[in-house]
Amino acid sequence: MSKDTVTITDNSSGKTIELPIRRGTVGPPVVDITTLYKEMGLFTFDPGFLSTASCRSSITYIDGDNGVLMYRGYPIEQLAEKSTFLEVAHLLLWGELPTKDQLDKFTSLIRRHTLINESLKSFYNGFYHDAHPMAVMVGVFGSLSAFYHDSLDIHDAGHRELAALRMIAKMPTIAAASYKHTVGEPFVYPKNTLSYVGNLLNMMFAVPAEEYAVDPIAERAMDLIFILHADHEQNASTSTVRLSGSSSANPFACVSSGITALWGPAHGGANEAVLTMLEEIGDVKNIGKYIDKAKDKNDPFRLMGFGHRIYKKYDPRAKIIRQMCHEVLAKIGDKNDPLFELALRLEEVALNDEYFQSRSLYPNVDFYSGIIYRAIGIPTNMFTVMFAIARTVGWVAQWMEMIADPDQRIARPRQIYDGAAPRNYIPIEQRK
Ligand code: ACO
Repeated sequence: MSKDTVTITDNSSGKTIELPIRRGTVGPPVVDITTLYKEMGLFTFDPGFLSTASCRSSITYIDGDNGVLMYRGYPIEQLAEKSTFLEVAHLLLWGELPTKDQLDKFTSLIRRHTLINESLKSFYNGFYHDAHPMAVMVGVFGSLSAFYHDSLDIHDAGHRELAALRMIAKMPTIAAASYKHTVGEPFVYPKNTLSYVGNLLNMMFAVPAEEYAVDPIAERAMDLIFILHADHEQNASTSTVRLSGSSSANPFACVSSGITALWGPAHGGANEAVLTMLEEIGDVKNIGKYIDKAKDKNDPFRLMGFGHRIYKKYDPRAKIIRQMCHEVLAKIGDKNDPLFELALRLEEVALNDEYFQSRSLYPNVDFYSGIIYRAIGIPTNMFTVMFAIARTVGWVAQWMEMIADPDQRIARPRQIYDGAAPRNYIPIEQRK
C-alpha cells in the first residue's frame, strides 16, 4: 500500500479503494476522490466546502492556522508595504511582478479602457434614485457583455486578455457612476493622469462646479485596502465566478455573478454591516449589551467584522490595515465622529473577552476597511462596491486560470436527496 494514498472501505459492501494523495507546493495534502463514485458508487458530503478543494490554483495561498496570505508566493505584508494595486494586479493576472516597462504598459492599457460606452450611461436612469449601488453594479456590469462583443470568445486568449483589461479598467467608472446616480450628480469622466484609486475618488467626488484634489492619505489607504482585497483564493464570490465560468459563460456575466455573491453580509457585505452595526450600538455605553447579544445563542445578532472561516488565529490583512486605520483616523477622520471612538472601544472589549478569544474571533479586514472608508468620506452603501472593484482583479485572474486549465469541466456538485421516496401521480379529484 503506497504512503501517498488513503484507503476507504465501505463496510456495507466490503469494497475498498485506494485514493491518491495530491500535494501542492505548500499546504495540507489533498485526497483525490474523482474516481470514488465510479469505483465505489459513493459521493462525499461537505456542505460549505469545509474539507473540499474545488480546483487547483497557483494564484493565492492561505494558511489560516498561521495567519499566512501570499499572492503568487509573495507574503501579503511585503506587497502591502512595498507595492501598488496595479503592480499587484499584474502579479495576480500574469504570475510575476512587472518590470518598469511592463508596469508602464499595463497601466497605460488599463487607462485606455476606463471609458464606458455612452449608451451604458442610460442604464442608470432605469434605476430608482435610492437603489442600492450593489444592485446597480450587478445590472450594469452584467450588461457589459451586450457591448463588447469583440472580447466574448473565451477560447481566444486575445479576447480573454481584452475582457480582463476592460473589466478591471471600467469597474471604477461603473462604480462611481452608480454613486453619482444615487446622489443626483452628473457623471464624471475618467481622468487618466490620476492613479487607479485617485481616478476613482475623482469620479466619485468631483463636481463640474469646482476643483477637486485627491487626498494623498486617502489615496494610499484605499490603494492598500485594494491590495488586501485583491484576491483570497476560493472564497464564495470567486467560487461563484468559477462556477459560472465553468459553463463557458462570458467573463462579464461571470464577474457579475461574483458581485452578487460578494454582496451578502457574511462576505463582502460585512464592511457595510460593520457600520450599520456601529450605528445601531450608537454609544460606548451600549457595548456591553451588544457583546452579550453576540454571545447569546438565542439571538441572531453577531459582531460584524469579527471572525473568519479560514483565519483562526488572526487575519493578516486585519493586522496590516489596523495600523492604517489608526493613521487615517488620526490624520483625516472627523475627530468628533463618535463612531470611531465606539469602533476602537468595541475592538478592545471584544479582543479581551473570553468568548471571542476562545473561538478565535478576531476583527477581520472588513472591520477596519469600513472604518477607513467612513473616515475618507465614502458613503456606507458604497463600501461593498469598493470591495468589488478590488476583487475584480482576483475574479478575473481566477477565471483566466480556470479557462486555461486543461482539466476544466463544468462544475456540477452532487447532493444527498432526502425528499419524498418514489410515488405515483394521483389524479386531482382523488387528492385529499
Ligand atoms: N459574533 C459572535 N459570534 C460569532 C461570530 C461573530 N461575528 N462569528 C462566529 N461566531 C461564533 C459562532 O456562533 C460559533 O459559536 P459556537 O461554537 O459557540 O457555536 C463559533 O463562533 C464559530 O462560528 P461559525 O459560524 O461556525 O464560523 P464560520 O467559519 O462558519 O463563519 C463567518 C465565519 C461567516 C465570517 C462568521 O464569523 C461571521 O458571521 N462573522 C461576521 C460577518 C463577517 O464579518 N464577515 C466577513 C468575513 S471576511 C470577508 O468576507 C472578507
